[in-house]
Amino acid sequence: MKRIVVGISGASGMLYAARFLRAVPADYEVHLIVSSVAQKILQVELGWDVKKQPFAQFWETFSEEPYLGAAIVVHPAENHFAPVASGSFITKGMVIIPCSAKTLSGVASGYAANLMERTADVHLKERRPLILVLRETPYSLIHIENMKKATLAGATILPASPGFYHQPQSVNDLVDFVAARVMDHLNIEHQLSKRWGENDG
Ligand SMILES: Cc1cc2nc3c(=O)[nH]c(=O)nc-3n(C[C@H](O)[C@H](O)[C@H](O)COP(=O)(O)O)c2cc1C
Repeated sequence: MKRIVVGISGASGMLYAARFLRAVPADYEVHLIVSSVAQKILQVELGWDVKKQPFAQFWETFSEEPYLGAAIVVHPAENHFAPVASGSFITKGMVIIPCSAKTLSGVASGYAANLMERTADVHLKERRPLILVLRETPYSLIHIENMKKATLAGATILPASPGFYHQPQSVNDLVDFVAARVMDHLNIEHQLSKRWGENDG
């Protein structure tokens, strides 16, 4: 089974999470952890109630694109007994998208206060990919030092900072640019965004 863990923490930019989740191929199993603040921001930014609606059902009302993606298992962020909390539960990697400065700080210090931080800690100790899609601006020195610490411990800081060289025509194009980079770092094949040097034919 190809499994990944997706954390959604309480930063702005929930569309990054939704477009990433929608693009994970159907032969993957996604273990999803949503912090309590993130649950509220998901409501505000997308109108998704994680507790009441499975992702596939939300997506069908949110977007005209069909949902053909992965099975998604949701774990409450307070549940330290979930399988993902253990290194013996094998995954291909983890992404926190979007990642708040607070969750970055928890990851950088190894302060596994909730299931998301614990699972990130497990990915670092097991030397598995851990991608942090940080969303904050501007950065304080504390943020920069935490990014350095997390990077030295093995995480990849992949800011929610899209490029423009693929000539985006919509917000979705911009968001998919970042989702595509996350897919690349988790070694997931995708067609989300054209690569530099690829011709149109
Ligand atoms: C609407 C809203 C937007 C926020 N956006 C951000 C953000 O973009 N980046 C960030 O670091 N914190 C942001 N915050 C603050 C975090 O939600 C707050 O620090 C929280 O403690 C994060 O907890 P969590 O990482 O456990 O979800 C936002 C808060 C709210 C209410």
